[in-house]
Amino acid sequence: MDVYGLIGNPVGHSLSPPMHEAGYEALGLDARYVTFEPPADSGAEAIEAAETLGIDGLNVTIPFKQDVLTAVDPAPLAERIGAVNTVDFTGKTPTGYNTDAVGAVRALAHHDVSLSGTAVVVGAGGAGRAVAFGLADEGLSVKIANRTASKADGLAAEVPNASGHGLDSLSGLLADADILVNCTSVGMEEDETPVPADALHGDLAVLDAVYTPIETRLLRDAAAAGATTVDGAWMLLYQGVEAFERWTGEDAPVDRMNSQLREHL
Ligand code: ATR
Repeated sequence: MDVYGLIGNPVGHSLSPPMHEAGYEALGLDARYVTFEPPADSGAEAIEAAETLGIDGLNVTIPFKQDVLTAVDPAPLAERIGAVNTVDFTGKTPTGYNTDAVGAVRALAHHDVSLSGTAVVVGAGGAGRAVAFGLADEGLSVKIANRTASKADGLAAEVPNASGHGLDSLSGLLADADILVNCTSVGMEEDETPVPADALHGDLAVLDAVYTPIETRLLRDAAAAGATTVDGAWMLLYQGVEAFERWTGEDAPVDRMNSQLREHL
């Protein structure tokens, strides 16, 4: 039996086990996906322990995404982002990937959003870093807007073809933009949005990384403005799909994983 899992602290309400196990079941794979909650300062030790135990793959979430970098061979994108959310133990040494970046790209592609032009990324934390690198690598021009503008500037200096801004620039930036991704926590369990509704328009595709609630105020405003909307569960789904495919070498049964994920949201 293959064993995959997630390390995080806390991991209590993770949606990953039902999503991944639906995938194993659909493909007839003899595999399990379990969650582990190591102490907050022991991400690297947890990776070493997992390798010793013969675990095949791990997802990594808060607060371990940066710490585990020292315990893995990071793929170039994970190294640039500075965070690992997926570890593959099937090679000689554990390899660390960041599938959050690809998750956002595949979520947009699933909705036939053209990956060209200009993207506005709101937020410069962990999610913002991953999405900014992911979209820039697709060739988009990336405008990063953050409450703390200096953090957006710092990130923009690392990302190709990017610039940094404060949230007060959002309306101007969005007028010429094709894609908007919210990577802040604004809207999570609250009816708030980081983006003025009147800045949204019908030529935009809007992805919200927040998935609680599934229809955030930002997505409601975006739909009202005639924009294409992509909810945060798609990004969560595709970061998992990407990890699943790396680990198993199979095409993931995306529809089955999606329906199982949405049942548990
Ligand atoms: P994550 O890993 O989910 O990205 P994070 O690294 O803590 O979490 O980043 C949170 C992001 O949400 C940051 O961009 C943060 O802005 P600051 O860098 O200025 O702190 C943004 N954020 C959180 N609360 C916000 C709020 N009320 N208004 C605007 N931005 C907010």
